[in-house]
Amino acid sequence: MKKNNKGIFMPEIQSVTFIGFMGSGKSTVGEMAARLLGYEFIDIDREIERKYRTSIPEIFRNYGEKAFREYEYSVLKEVCPHPYTIISCGGGIVIKPENRKLLKNKSFVIWLDCPVEKCISRCKNGNRPLLNDDNVLLSAEKLFACREPFYRQLADMIYDTDQFTAETVAEKISINIKSLMQ
Ligand code: S3P
Repeated sequence: MKKNNKGIFMPEIQSVTFIGFMGSGKSTVGEMAARLLGYEFIDIDREIERKYRTSIPEIFRNYGEKAFREYEYSVLKEVCPHPYTIISCGGGIVIKPENRKLLKNKSFVIWLDCPVEKCISRCKNGNRPLLNDDNVLLSAEKLFACREPFYRQLADMIYDTDQFTAETVAEKISINIKSLMQ
């Protein structure tokens, strides 16, 4: 049950998860919103790296994407019901049906929407194995096309992170989350 029968958000039984494409601002905005709300902040990728004592590129290189998705699921399952917590999810979390079920049932989902081109311009540090392609834009567009219906389907709220700064989006989110609790 995500909300009580009056449609009120209940931070004591569900987390707030941020979904969206790589570079859409989930970690930056998520951390700021958590600070404004006084919530804990968890980044799934950082949790995976801590739990499995290796980096995301290493996981992809040594064990492949399938293994990475299993690690992602195991961490999401642990953290999703955390009370008073904002969770930043990796962009591909929505492709696994088990993850979608967890997100839908155990969290309030916020989709940070931003055009693919802008997203990849923010991902220049080479730490995204799925963007290490000759034609980055084309592969990113293909990934986005597969994921976008899931982002849309899962979202309880959608925010544009193209036209607004991370600070502005985080402020709007914290105000809206507070108002959902009343
Ligand atoms: C991925 C996104 C990354 C990370 C991994 C795979 C994806 O996270 O989980 O490289 O499949 O879109 P960010 O969305 O935080 O960059």
